[in-house]
Amino acid sequence: MTTTSSTPVASTAEAFRVIRHESPATDAERAERIANPKFGVVFSDHMARMSWDMDRGWYDPRIEPYAPLQLDPASSVLHYASEIFEGLKAYRWEDGTIRTFRPEENAKRFQRSAWRMALPELPVEDFMAAIRAYVAIDGHWTPTAEYSSLYLRPFLIATDVFLGLRQPKKAEFLVIGSPSGPYFAGGVKPVSIWVEQDYHRAGPGGTGAAKCGGNYASSLRPQIEAGERGYEQVLYLDAKSGQVLEELGGMNVFVVLKDGTVLTPVLTGNLLEGVTRSSIIQLLSDDDLKVVERDITLTELKEGVASGEVAEVFACGTAAVVTPVSHMGSKDFDLQVGDGQPGEVTMKVRKTLTDIQYGRAEDAYGWMEILA
Ligand code: COI
Repeated sequence: MTTTSSTPVASTAEAFRVIRHESPATDAERAERIANPKFGVVFSDHMARMSWDMDRGWYDPRIEPYAPLQLDPASSVLHYASEIFEGLKAYRWEDGTIRTFRPEENAKRFQRSAWRMALPELPVEDFMAAIRAYVAIDGHWTPTAEYSSLYLRPFLIATDVFLGLRQPKKAEFLVIGSPSGPYFAGGVKPVSIWVEQDYHRAGPGGTGAAKCGGNYASSLRPQIEAGERGYEQVLYLDAKSGQVLEELGGMNVFVVLKDGTVLTPVLTGNLLEGVTRSSIIQLLSDDDLKVVERDITLTELKEGVASGEVAEVFACGTAAVVTPVSHMGSKDFDLQVGDGQPGEVTMKVRKTLTDIQYGRAEDAYGWMEILA
Protein backbone atom coordinates (compact mmCIF):
# COMPACT_ATOMS: atom_id res chain seq x y z
CA MET A 1 0.00 0.00 0.00
CA THR A 2 1.32 3.43 -0.86
CA THR A 3 1.56 6.06 1.83
CA THR A 4 1.84 8.90 -0.67
CA SER A 5 -0.67 11.69 -0.59
CA SER A 6 0.27 13.29 -3.88
CA THR A 7 -2.30 16.06 -3.97
CA PRO A 8 -1.13 19.08 -2.02
CA VAL A 9 -3.80 20.52 0.28
CA ALA A 10 -2.03 23.73 1.10
CA SER A 11 0.17 24.85 -1.78
CA THR A 12 0.35 28.35 -0.36
CA ALA A 13 0.98 29.79 3.07
CA GLU A 14 -2.43 31.49 2.91
CA ALA A 15 -4.11 28.08 3.03
CA PHE A 16 -3.03 27.79 6.68
CA ARG A 17 -5.68 29.08 9.07
CA VAL A 18 -4.11 31.07 11.86
CA ILE A 19 -4.92 30.60 15.53
CA ARG A 20 -2.92 33.29 17.28
CA HIS A 21 -1.21 32.90 20.63
CA GLU A 22 -3.23 34.71 23.28
CA SER A 23 -0.20 35.96 25.14
CA PRO A 24 2.78 36.01 22.78
CA ALA A 25 6.16 37.18 24.03
CA THR A 26 6.39 40.96 24.25
CA ASP A 27 8.86 42.73 21.96
CA ALA A 28 11.23 43.15 24.89
CA GLU A 29 10.96 39.47 25.94
CA ARG A 30 11.54 38.29 22.38
CA ALA A 31 14.48 40.66 21.89
CA GLU A 32 16.09 39.31 25.03
CA ARG A 33 15.51 35.65 24.06
CA ILE A 34 16.91 36.04 20.55
CA ALA A 35 19.81 38.35 21.41
CA ASN A 36 22.39 35.63 21.90
CA PRO A 37 20.60 32.29 21.76
CA LYS A 38 22.19 28.90 22.32
CA PHE A 39 21.29 26.15 19.88
CA GLY A 40 17.79 24.71 20.20
CA VAL A 41 16.61 26.00 23.57
CA VAL A 42 14.42 29.01 22.69
CA PHE A 43 11.18 28.53 20.76
CA SER A 44 8.92 31.05 19.05
CA ASP A 45 5.25 31.73 19.81
CA HIS A 46 3.65 29.54 17.12
CA MET A 47 4.03 26.33 15.16
CA ALA A 48 2.69 25.09 11.84
CA ARG A 49 0.64 21.92 11.83
CA MET A 50 -1.19 19.56 9.47
CA SER A 51 -3.01 16.36 10.29
CA TRP A 52 -3.26 13.16 8.28
CA ASP A 53 -5.30 10.05 8.36
CA MET A 54 -5.37 7.22 5.92
CA ASP A 55 -8.96 7.88 4.79
CA ARG A 56 -8.87 11.69 4.56
CA GLY A 57 -5.25 12.25 3.55
CA TRP A 58 -3.72 15.55 4.70
CA TYR A 59 -6.10 18.05 6.25
CA ASP A 60 -6.45 21.14 8.41
CA PRO A 61 -3.30 23.12 7.64
CA ARG A 62 -2.96 25.62 10.47
CA ILE A 63 -0.71 27.83 12.52
CA GLU A 64 -1.34 27.47 16.22
CA PRO A 65 0.26 28.59 19.48
CA TYR A 66 3.44 26.73 20.38
CA ALA A 67 2.36 24.44 23.18
CA PRO A 68 2.88 20.93 24.59
CA LEU A 69 1.23 18.29 22.42
CA GLN A 70 -1.62 16.29 23.79
CA LEU A 71 -0.89 12.66 22.90
CA ASP A 72 -2.66 9.51 23.94
CA PRO A 73 -0.15 7.38 25.89
CA ALA A 74 -0.79 4.58 23.38
CA SER A 75 0.25 6.75 20.39
CA SER A 76 2.45 4.66 18.14
CA VAL A 77 5.25 7.23 18.00
CA LEU A 78 5.77 6.74 21.73
CA HIS A 79 6.20 2.98 21.38
CA TYR A 80 7.66 2.25 17.96
CA ALA A 81 9.45 5.55 17.20
CA SER A 82 7.38 6.12 14.06
CA GLU A 83 8.91 9.53 13.54
CA ILE A 84 10.97 11.53 11.04
CA PHE A 85 12.35 15.06 11.08
CA GLU A 86 14.23 17.69 9.11
CA GLY A 87 16.47 20.60 10.01
CA LEU A 88 16.88 23.82 8.06
CA LYS A 89 17.79 27.38 8.88
CA ALA A 90 16.18 30.74 8.13
CA TYR A 91 18.57 33.67 7.92
CA ARG A 92 17.82 37.37 8.31
CA TRP A 93 19.55 39.21 5.48
CA GLU A 94 20.64 42.82 5.66
CA ASP A 95 17.92 43.80 3.17
CA GLY A 96 15.35 42.66 5.76
CA THR A 97 14.29 39.49 3.94
CA ILE A 98 14.27 36.09 5.61
CA ARG A 99 15.70 33.34 3.44
CA THR A 100 16.40 29.69 3.72
CA PHE A 101 18.80 27.30 2.02
CA ARG A 102 17.65 24.71 -0.53
CA PRO A 103 14.42 23.89 1.33
CA GLU A 104 13.09 21.67 -1.43
CA GLU A 105 15.98 19.29 -0.81
CA ASN A 106 14.77 18.93 2.76
CA ALA A 107 11.20 18.49 1.56
CA LYS A 108 12.24 15.71 -0.82
CA ARG A 109 14.35 13.98 1.82
CA PHE A 110 11.39 14.22 4.20
CA GLN A 111 9.39 12.26 1.64
CA ARG A 112 12.12 9.63 1.30
CA SER A 113 12.37 9.30 5.09
CA ALA A 114 8.57 9.02 5.35
CA TRP A 115 8.51 6.26 2.75
CA ARG A 116 11.16 4.24 4.59
CA MET A 117 9.34 4.61 7.89
CA ALA A 118 5.92 3.78 6.37
CA LEU A 119 4.70 7.27 7.25
CA PRO A 120 2.63 9.40 4.87
CA GLU A 121 4.67 11.36 2.33
CA LEU A 122 3.95 15.06 2.60
CA PRO A 123 3.80 16.77 -0.81
CA VAL A 124 6.77 19.11 -1.34
CA GLU A 125 4.33 22.01 -1.87
CA ASP A 126 2.77 21.44 1.55
CA PHE A 127 6.17 21.24 3.25
CA MET A 128 7.14 24.53 1.62
CA ALA A 129 3.81 26.19 2.40
CA ALA A 130 4.07 25.16 6.06
CA ILE A 131 7.49 26.75 6.37
CA ARG A 132 6.29 29.91 4.66
CA ALA A 133 3.18 30.10 6.81
CA TYR A 134 5.24 29.63 9.97
CA VAL A 135 7.79 32.29 8.98
CA ALA A 136 5.01 34.69 7.95
CA ILE A 137 3.80 34.61 11.56
CA ASP A 138 7.01 34.13 13.56
CA GLY A 139 9.74 35.36 11.20
CA HIS A 140 10.41 38.20 13.64
CA TRP A 141 11.99 35.57 15.91
CA THR A 142 14.90 35.29 13.44
CA PRO A 143 18.03 36.40 15.33
CA THR A 144 20.64 38.67 13.78
CA ALA A 145 23.77 37.93 15.84
CA GLU A 146 26.69 36.53 13.83
CA TYR A 147 26.15 32.91 12.80
CA SER A 148 22.71 32.80 14.36
CA SER A 149 19.56 31.74 12.54
CA LEU A 150 16.00 30.61 13.07
CA TYR A 151 16.46 26.83 13.07
CA LEU A 152 13.36 25.20 11.59
CA ARG A 153 12.45 21.72 12.72
CA PRO A 154 9.72 20.04 10.63
CA PHE A 155 8.72 16.64 12.02
CA LEU A 156 6.12 13.97 11.53
CA ILE A 157 4.83 11.59 14.17
CA ALA A 158 2.47 8.63 14.02
CA THR A 159 -0.48 9.12 16.34
CA ASP A 160 -2.48 5.90 16.02
CA VAL A 161 -3.83 4.86 19.40
CA PHE A 162 -2.87 1.23 18.99
CA LEU A 163 -0.24 -1.02 20.47
CA GLY A 164 -0.13 -3.40 17.53
CA LEU A 165 2.72 -2.92 15.09
CA ARG A 166 1.33 -1.78 11.76
CA GLN A 167 1.55 0.95 9.16
CA PRO A 168 0.34 4.15 10.88
CA LYS A 169 -3.17 5.31 9.99
CA LYS A 170 -2.89 8.70 11.68
CA ALA A 171 -0.11 11.25 11.79
CA GLU A 172 0.67 14.84 12.69
CA PHE A 173 3.12 17.08 10.83
CA LEU A 174 4.53 20.07 12.68
CA VAL A 175 7.08 22.80 12.13
CA ILE A 176 8.59 24.47 15.16
CA GLY A 177 11.26 27.16 15.07
CA SER A 178 14.14 27.87 17.40
CA PRO A 179 16.19 31.08 17.28
CA SER A 180 19.65 29.55 17.57
CA GLY A 181 23.32 30.34 17.80
CA PRO A 182 26.08 27.95 16.64
CA TYR A 183 25.44 24.24 17.24
CA PHE A 184 28.73 23.86 19.09
CA ALA A 185 29.23 26.36 21.86
CA GLY A 186 32.43 28.22 21.07
CA GLY A 187 31.72 28.56 17.34
CA VAL A 188 34.24 27.03 14.91
CA LYS A 189 36.32 25.28 17.53
CA PRO A 190 37.80 22.05 16.10
CA VAL A 191 36.33 18.85 17.53
CA SER A 192 37.91 15.51 18.37
CA ILE A 193 36.45 12.34 16.91
CA TRP A 194 36.31 8.79 18.22
CA VAL A 195 36.15 6.26 15.39
CA GLU A 196 33.69 3.69 16.70
CA GLN A 197 34.54 0.05 16.03
CA ASP A 198 32.04 -1.74 18.27
CA TYR A 199 28.75 0.08 17.76
CA HIS A 200 27.28 0.78 14.32
CA ARG A 201 24.87 3.49 13.25
CA ALA A 202 23.25 1.63 10.36
CA GLY A 203 23.36 -1.61 8.49
CA PRO A 204 22.63 -2.67 4.92
CA GLY A 205 18.91 -2.36 4.25
CA GLY A 206 18.39 -0.45 7.49
CA THR A 207 17.27 3.11 8.10
CA GLY A 208 20.64 4.84 7.81
CA ALA A 209 19.53 7.13 4.97
CA ALA A 210 16.30 8.15 6.70
CA LYS A 211 16.21 11.10 9.03
CA CYS A 212 14.39 9.23 11.76
CA GLY A 213 14.78 9.87 15.46
CA GLY A 214 15.91 6.32 16.23
CA ASN A 215 19.14 6.78 14.27
CA TYR A 216 20.01 9.69 16.51
CA ALA A 217 18.84 8.17 19.78
CA SER A 218 21.03 5.12 19.21
CA SER A 219 24.08 7.35 18.70
CA LEU A 220 23.93 8.58 22.28
CA ARG A 221 25.39 5.51 24.06
CA PRO A 222 28.50 5.53 21.82
CA GLN A 223 28.63 9.32 22.27
CA ILE A 224 28.66 8.96 26.06
CA GLU A 225 31.42 6.36 25.90
CA ALA A 226 33.46 8.51 23.50
CA GLY A 227 33.00 11.42 25.91
CA GLU A 228 34.37 9.31 28.75
CA ARG A 229 37.47 8.71 26.63
CA GLY A 230 37.84 12.43 26.00
CA TYR A 231 36.37 12.66 22.49
CA GLU A 232 33.58 15.00 21.44
CA GLN A 233 32.01 13.25 18.44
CA VAL A 234 31.70 9.73 17.04
CA LEU A 235 32.45 8.55 13.51
CA TYR A 236 30.77 5.31 12.48
CA LEU A 237 32.05 2.55 10.22
CA ASP A 238 29.92 0.33 8.02
CA ALA A 239 28.33 -2.59 9.79
CA LYS A 240 29.30 -5.20 7.20
CA SER A 241 33.07 -4.93 6.93
CA GLY A 242 33.64 -2.65 9.92
CA GLN A 243 36.28 -0.95 7.79
CA VAL A 244 34.59 1.79 5.76
CA LEU A 245 33.78 5.30 7.03
CA GLU A 246 30.11 6.26 7.02
CA GLU A 247 29.14 9.34 9.01
CA LEU A 248 29.07 10.93 12.43
CA GLY A 249 26.09 10.78 14.79
CA GLY A 250 24.55 13.85 13.16
CA MET A 251 26.98 14.98 10.43
CA ASN A 252 28.61 13.83 7.19
CA VAL A 253 32.40 13.69 6.94
CA PHE A 254 35.02 14.94 4.44
CA VAL A 255 38.74 14.09 4.22
CA VAL A 256 41.14 16.51 2.49
CA LEU A 257 44.36 15.03 1.14
CA LYS A 258 47.70 16.83 0.96
CA ASP A 259 47.43 17.09 -2.84
CA GLY A 260 44.08 18.91 -2.56
CA THR A 261 41.87 15.95 -3.44
CA VAL A 262 38.79 15.81 -1.24
CA LEU A 263 37.16 12.51 -0.32
CA THR A 264 33.76 11.85 1.16
CA PRO A 265 31.97 8.53 1.73
CA VAL A 266 29.85 7.52 -1.23
CA LEU A 267 26.11 7.29 -0.53
CA THR A 268 25.45 3.62 0.02
CA GLY A 269 21.91 3.88 1.33
CA ASN A 270 23.29 3.57 4.86
CA LEU A 271 24.15 7.21 5.35
CA LEU A 272 22.24 10.43 5.28
CA GLU A 273 22.25 12.35 2.00
CA GLY A 274 23.13 15.68 3.59
CA VAL A 275 22.04 18.91 1.92
CA THR A 276 25.18 20.56 3.28
CA ARG A 277 27.20 17.57 2.02
CA SER A 278 25.98 17.89 -1.57
CA SER A 279 26.37 21.69 -1.51
CA ILE A 280 29.97 21.35 -0.34
CA ILE A 281 30.72 18.84 -3.09
CA GLN A 282 29.44 21.40 -5.60
CA LEU A 283 31.34 24.33 -4.05
CA LEU A 284 34.63 22.46 -3.84
CA SER A 285 34.32 21.10 -7.38
CA ASP A 286 33.62 24.60 -8.69
CA ASP A 287 36.69 25.78 -6.81
CA ASP A 288 38.67 23.38 -9.01
CA LEU A 289 39.24 20.80 -6.33
CA LYS A 290 38.90 17.15 -7.20
CA VAL A 291 36.10 15.70 -5.07
CA VAL A 292 35.75 11.94 -4.99
CA GLU A 293 32.79 10.11 -3.45
CA ARG A 294 34.08 6.65 -2.64
CA ASP A 295 34.73 4.15 0.11
CA ILE A 296 37.33 5.45 2.56
CA THR A 297 38.75 2.77 4.81
CA LEU A 298 39.74 3.24 8.42
CA THR A 299 43.23 1.94 7.58
CA GLU A 300 43.59 4.53 4.84
CA LEU A 301 42.42 7.29 7.16
CA LYS A 302 44.61 6.20 10.05
CA GLU A 303 47.74 5.84 7.91
CA GLY A 304 46.98 9.05 6.03
CA VAL A 305 46.56 11.11 9.19
CA ALA A 306 49.72 9.57 10.69
CA SER A 307 51.81 10.25 7.56
CA GLY A 308 50.39 13.69 6.84
CA GLU A 309 48.84 12.47 3.56
CA VAL A 310 45.49 13.46 5.10
CA ALA A 311 45.81 17.18 5.68
CA GLU A 312 42.33 18.02 6.98
CA VAL A 313 39.16 16.33 8.14
CA PHE A 314 35.87 18.12 8.62
CA ALA A 315 32.29 17.28 9.47
CA CYS A 316 29.24 19.04 8.08
CA GLY A 317 25.52 19.34 8.54
CA THR A 318 22.81 21.97 8.62
CA ALA A 319 23.11 22.62 12.33
CA ALA A 320 26.88 22.35 12.62
CA VAL A 321 27.62 23.87 9.15
CA VAL A 322 31.31 22.94 8.64
CA THR A 323 33.20 21.78 11.70
CA PRO A 324 36.96 21.13 11.61
CA VAL A 325 38.33 17.97 13.20
CA SER A 326 41.52 18.33 15.24
CA HIS A 327 42.05 14.82 16.58
CA MET A 328 40.95 11.29 15.75
CA GLY A 329 41.28 8.26 17.90
CA SER A 330 40.09 4.72 18.32
CA LYS A 331 41.07 1.49 20.09
CA ASP A 332 44.48 1.43 18.46
CA PHE A 333 45.40 5.03 17.64
CA ASP A 334 45.21 8.61 18.81
CA LEU A 335 46.32 11.11 16.21
CA GLN A 336 46.32 14.83 15.58
CA VAL A 337 44.95 15.82 12.18
CA GLY A 338 47.42 18.16 10.42
CA ASP A 339 48.56 20.78 12.92
CA GLY A 340 45.36 20.37 14.96
CA GLN A 341 44.04 23.72 13.71
CA PRO A 342 41.14 24.34 11.28
CA GLY A 343 42.47 23.62 7.77
CA GLU A 344 42.55 25.96 4.79
CA VAL A 345 40.12 24.02 2.59
CA THR A 346 37.78 23.52 5.54
CA MET A 347 37.65 27.18 6.46
CA LYS A 348 37.41 28.37 2.86
CA VAL A 349 34.42 26.20 2.04
CA ARG A 350 32.83 27.12 5.35
CA LYS A 351 33.17 30.81 4.48
CA THR A 352 31.92 30.36 0.91
CA LEU A 353 28.87 28.47 2.14
CA THR A 354 27.99 30.79 5.02
CA ASP A 355 28.57 33.89 2.87
CA ILE A 356 25.90 32.59 0.48
CA GLN A 357 23.57 31.67 3.33
CA TYR A 358 23.86 35.04 5.08
CA GLY A 359 23.71 37.06 1.85
CA ARG A 360 27.32 38.24 1.93
CA ALA A 361 28.12 36.67 -1.44
CA GLU A 362 26.29 36.22 -4.70
CA ASP A 363 23.95 33.23 -4.72
CA ALA A 364 25.21 31.94 -8.05
CA TYR A 365 23.44 28.59 -7.62
CA GLY A 366 20.00 30.00 -6.77
CA TRP A 367 20.11 28.09 -3.48
CA MET A 368 18.50 30.74 -1.31
CA GLU A 369 14.72 30.91 -1.15
CA ILE A 370 12.93 34.01 0.15
CA LEU A 371 10.43 33.06 2.85
CA ALA A 372 9.34 36.52 3.97
C1 COI B 1 20.90 19.13 11.49
O1 COI B 1 22.10 19.27 11.22
O2 COI B 1 20.07 20.02 11.21
C2 COI B 1 20.41 17.93 12.15
O3 COI B 1 19.27 17.61 11.99
C3 COI B 1 21.31 17.15 13.04
C4 COI B 1 20.86 17.23 14.47
C5 COI B 1 21.72 16.32 15.29
C6 COI B 1 20.90 18.62 15.02
